[in-house]
Amino acid sequence: MDIDLLERTANALVSPGRGILAADESTGTMSNRLKLVGLDTSEEARRAYRANLFATAGCESAISGVILYDETIRQNADDGTPIPDYLASRDMIPGIKVDTGAKELAFHAGEKITEGLDGLRERCAEYFTLGARFAKWRAVIIIGDGIPSDACISTNAHALARYAAICQEQGLVPIIEPEVLMDGTHDGQTCFDVTARVLDETFAACANQGVHLPGALLKPNMIIAGKGCENQLSREEVAKLTVDCMTGHVPAEIPGLVFLSGGQSDEDATAHLNLMNAMDVDHPWQLSYSYGRALQAAALKTWASGTALESQASFAHRAKMNSLARSGDWLVSLES
Ligand code: 13P
Repeated sequence: MDIDLLERTANALVSPGRGILAADESTGTMSNRLKLVGLDTSEEARRAYRANLFATAGCESAISGVILYDETIRQNADDGTPIPDYLASRDMIPGIKVDTGAKELAFHAGEKITEGLDGLRERCAEYFTLGARFAKWRAVIIIGDGIPSDACISTNAHALARYAAICQEQGLVPIIEPEVLMDGTHDGQTCFDVTARVLDETFAACANQGVHLPGALLKPNMIIAGKGCENQLSREEVAKLTVDCMTGHVPAEIPGLVFLSGGQSDEDATAHLNLMNAMDVDHPWQLSYSYGRALQAAALKTWASGTALESQASFAHRAKMNSLARSGDWLVSLES
């Protein structure tokens, strides 16, 4: 294990003012998103949209790394350069989604287990030669009647830890993503309690597998009431409960927390991160972003309705807003 490389990569990914662009939607998800805005869903259509996003002038000041999907890491930028080389030349670290998706968990109706461990060592080795320096694996935890079960939490924690160890062995910084979904009618306290349980199990499994935490990143959900809950938390409550939950359940050795947006509005995702970074509390990690929808939704809409440059401008704006949120310097007035 090249500890120095892992720690350098992990720290570079959470360097001040920058965060991660999650552009690793599977072929099915990306095609659906293109279709929803009335666009073609071919391989070239997926490439063209993403290549345009990555070519946004100056976005490297807000984007430290980009998570790619298997199809994308093998495609070329508009100038013919392989996309991972293109990103690296712009000072954005190429990353790769390595799980193969969340499947039904046997004997546990409504719950999921993320697959992809078989052959993972060989795939990681290939992705490293293609230029990837970090990876992502997303576990999905659903809150509902009597769930999540202990079985769901422990199997997903085990898979995350095994994934993380294999990645590190192969020189890739693992982003450990145990996502507690916003779907459901649960309140904020339930999200807090489930997230705490999930984080405890995940880090216990990581310790058991020997994962080197200074060379890993955590991609957590924020503490948010379910979308269907009548009692939504204020932005200030989300920020405070999220920092409280992380403080109690995330080891200090992890260099950074790169939050997912999870279906929050673009502005909420930015505002929550901004409030967390503006809080006067001591914590050991960088608090950053690894947003998919909250960085891309506007750019995708403009890609369908406007010019390539307008799509880049939409992306540049969201990237800039989140960059400001890294230091608590975002203001709602900057949105108009
Ligand atoms: P969202 O920010 O859209 O939740 O996507 C982040 C991600 O990569 C989920 O795995």
